[in-house]
Amino acid sequence: MARDQKGSVRPVTFAGDALVLIDQRRLPGRLVRLRIDDHNAAVAAIRDMVVRGAPAIGIAGGYAVVLAAQAADRAGLVGHEWRKHVADAAAGIARARPTAVNLAWAVGKVAAAAAAGGGTEALRAEAAAILAADVSANRAIGREGSALLPEECAVLTHCNAGALATGGFGTALGVVRAAHDAGKLRMVFATETRPLQQGMRLTAWELRREGIPVTVIADSAAAWLMRCGEVQAVVVGADRIARNGDVANKIGTYALAIAACRHRIPFYVAAPVSTLDPATRSGTDIIIEERSAGELTEFKGRRLAPLGVSVVNPAFDITPAELITAIITESGVLRGPDVGRIMESLESGPAAERTLDCPGNEAGESRRMGHA
Ligand code: MRU
Repeated sequence: MARDQKGSVRPVTFAGDALVLIDQRRLPGRLVRLRIDDHNAAVAAIRDMVVRGAPAIGIAGGYAVVLAAQAADRAGLVGHEWRKHVADAAAGIARARPTAVNLAWAVGKVAAAAAAGGGTEALRAEAAAILAADVSANRAIGREGSALLPEECAVLTHCNAGALATGGFGTALGVVRAAHDAGKLRMVFATETRPLQQGMRLTAWELRREGIPVTVIADSAAAWLMRCGEVQAVVVGADRIARNGDVANKIGTYALAIAACRHRIPFYVAAPVSTLDPATRSGTDIIIEERSAGELTEFKGRRLAPLGVSVVNPAFDITPAELITAIITESGVLRGPDVGRIMESLESGPAAERTLDCPGNEAGESRRMGHA
């Protein structure tokens, strides 16, 4: 595949008057696109994981606000009534999934265009701008992250933080793609990612179709591979990064960070600035989505666990800042105190005018905790 086609799969687009989503529940078996023209159906698609991944649900949520505006146009609403319809719909869309800050952030941006007097076309332009900015952020994240990796390295990644989870190209897989282009990448280990298998189904699908070497492992094999010297870096995505640098990401990320720390392997989080949330003080303030028991106890409608057994199924966990080597953003690589500086700059001005003062890549690793 040509270099500029890497990561070119687009999980969220808008065609005619409809939101078009790749149905990620059907991958890798079938590549099916769903056309959605109603914002309530878009909310259901986000909840049911037709579309998933923090930036991708943000982009889909932004376009869902456009669908609500189109419905208001069709209903003949104008002025205050039109804006109220859009604002009420936006509030519901933003609640579709609670953990990823990108959803509320993107919905808020499109809804703000309506509150400022913009019509449906202005909202659509705002949603399109969010999508385009996400893809270019991911390419920059790829360049920043690839520079951190050693030659001939094997990278372990969790869940799917690829093109499918974003506007395109991916965050963690953006780093993987750029490292592959740079000739640095020997192997990607993709954790299966229980219970919905985003790693085995989606990450493996994305990388294989581009000829990037990928090996699927059971989640429980990760620490052992590290112990055996098979892994040189861990790179994961993020759903929300709190003010103190704590990171919410797919359940299992925390365990990987502990294992990486024990084996002195750098642990990188790749995320766009839109995933930074200065309003959330620390990881303890992040709402962790709890998903249905059936995701764990059933497989394709067949029950695997005894009837009546109690189940807990958190979709995300929090990795404390001290276990994270660096956060790779489109604006630079953040280590330790840099995170606080960036969060302050985010608070100080409107999102569109943010200019971030980020350091460049420093040579070597600068973990903030000692290792046993
Ligand atoms: O439940 P999911 O599949 O939406 O969870 C996705 C993740 O945890 C990703 O790692 C995260 O959203 C970053 S995607 C660039």
